[in-house]
Amino acid sequence: MSKIKKAVIPAAGLGTRFLPATKAMPKEMIPIIDTPMIQVIVEEAVRSGIETIVLVTARHKESIENHFDYSYEVEKTLEEKGKKELAEISKSVARFANIISVRQKNPMGLGHAVLMAEPVVGNEPFAVLLGDDLIISEKKQATKQLMDLFDEMGKSCVAVMEVPEKEISKYGIIAGTKSKEGFWTVTDVVEKPKVSQAPSRMAIPGRYVLIPEIFDHLKKVKPGTSGEIQLTDGLVLLAQNQGLLAHTFEGIRYDTGDRLGYIDATLAFALKRPDLREDTILLMKKYLEKN
Ligand code: G1P
Repeated sequence: MSKIKKAVIPAAGLGTRFLPATKAMPKEMIPIIDTPMIQVIVEEAVRSGIETIVLVTARHKESIENHFDYSYEVEKTLEEKGKKELAEISKSVARFANIISVRQKNPMGLGHAVLMAEPVVGNEPFAVLLGDDLIISEKKQATKQLMDLFDEMGKSCVAVMEVPEKEISKYGIIAGTKSKEGFWTVTDVVEKPKVSQAPSRMAIPGRYVLIPEIFDHLKKVKPGTSGEIQLTDGLVLLAQNQGLLAHTFEGIRYDTGDRLGYIDATLAFALKRPDLREDTILLMKKYLEKN
């Protein structure tokens, strides 16, 4: 059994990169086909063995909490009409995990959002999953891969992936020493560097397993130029004081905060679904022939 039982999922952002969809609806509720992105993330955590999900939300995000609760009217009406299967789809989401939500009252950055989860996480190691990063892994969920590394090594760890130079400025980039293929001991993390200042091309795609000392570090971090407390600055202190590992995970990651990344993820998820795969291929062929 893993020592990691809780996962923090920050979901407080305004989602301005996806306007107008996010004007009156949380970006986390935008679906990939028929499943809200936040559900895809929660499912990764639950399949990894996480029991308690700490959602860090904000004003106007109540629909996320409702999504993970029962919807009495919908379920009762479906049952009365004999549509048990559909009712079950709705009910099963409410049974996924123990969901606890906390509020981030001011948009003060990802580090600050993670800090809001401290009263619920307490003195335990925990996972963090970022909602814009969807990962499809063939064998083991990306979060589970990090949990296994933590259980073996006892140190905080982050997932990393190699990115082309033009994408370096979108990510936290690590500096480190390679211990074996796919594993690094992290010495530094730089948030969204210019190519000329990047210590490597290894980027963090929004999956972390952290020890509770991160909270003390985040309390010391000064807001950056944008007034935000960066998780990356807390990771640097973790690397310097308690140690931080990086691991190239198995899986493909989709940046659903980006319009093209969202289309990419939608197609990839459709092709993975037996009920949609064949017809999706036909659709893709149709568009290829037309263009
Ligand atoms: C955040 C983190 C960054 C990380 C990225 C992954 O940035 O600050 O270190 O690499 O998520 O998606 P954001 O994309 O929220 O600007």
